[in-house]
Amino acid sequence: MIETITELDALRARVNGWKREGLRVGFVPTMGNLHAGHYSLVMLARQYADRVVSSVFVNPTQFGPNEDFTRYPRTPEADTTGLEGAGCDVLWLPTVESMYPFGVELAARINVPGVSSVLEGAHRPGHFDGVCTVVTRLFNQVQPDVAAFGKKDFQQLAVIRQMVTDLAFPIEILGGSIVRESDGLAMSSRNQYLSAEERPIAAEIRRTLLAMRAAVASGQPRLEVEAEASRRLAAAGFAVDYAAVRRPDLSEPEDGEKSARVALIAAKLGRTRLIDNLEF
Ligand code: PAJ
Repeated sequence: MIETITELDALRARVNGWKREGLRVGFVPTMGNLHAGHYSLVMLARQYADRVVSSVFVNPTQFGPNEDFTRYPRTPEADTTGLEGAGCDVLWLPTVESMYPFGVELAARINVPGVSSVLEGAHRPGHFDGVCTVVTRLFNQVQPDVAAFGKKDFQQLAVIRQMVTDLAFPIEILGGSIVRESDGLAMSSRNQYLSAEERPIAAEIRRTLLAMRAAVASGQPRLEVEAEASRRLAAAGFAVDYAAVRRPDLSEPEDGEKSARVALIAAKLGRTRLIDNLEF
């Protein structure tokens, strides 16, 4: 049976009990409205830990003023059932008041320079500060040995890894593979905002990523690959934030360089902002 905990003292007592027994503790932070992508992270954490805690907290500090914080989907019953099925031991449900005891305005903030400022960071100012601010708190609350994040949010994973190294958190970070729908659309809580007309078009993001990989492999210059991907997405009806080819650390590769690459896309379809990426 999964145990739902809403008080920090009770969470601490449960985790300390496990640690006294010598058990390794895994952690999967989420914002709820869970799907197979989230559950795959719980199963991944299970492989590296004896007990798994998952949190559901829709974090106000990582949403911009015109973003979807208030309408972000909240499905607590289904999340609890799903987490139990995935092998989660404790569901940690903090309140906004317990997460930010001095209020959001006075909250101590974590900023990871450099990797936070490009791509998503450039289009969502302050977003990664909000993510790092809440993940630091969650790490201090749960005190896990290992924590799992999805590669769906490729840049978020890079930012978290840099934060964990820089601030010397004694936590091993795992990256979980992207879980997709059958047409290639990366699973996301935001997919349900898509209308019936938009939903098939959304799979064009994945096809564009595959085309970007093929174009890079054929030796096409990076800026041409990026421009062509943006044109393709715009023609399909997207408002494109970026279509980029980067090194895994998100710096800009030189043409002809043999290093690993990642293609990343962020684009809006109607009111819905979608992101995806492909490593090669
Ligand atoms: P959320 O969007 O709920 O995602 C929680 C975790 O699930 C993240 O690590 C994300 O990368 C992963 N995830 C989402 N969709 C996935 C998919 N299709 N395949 C694999 N993994 C997927 O990311 C956040 O919440 C928040 O920023 C958080 C880290 C919880 C801080 O508030």
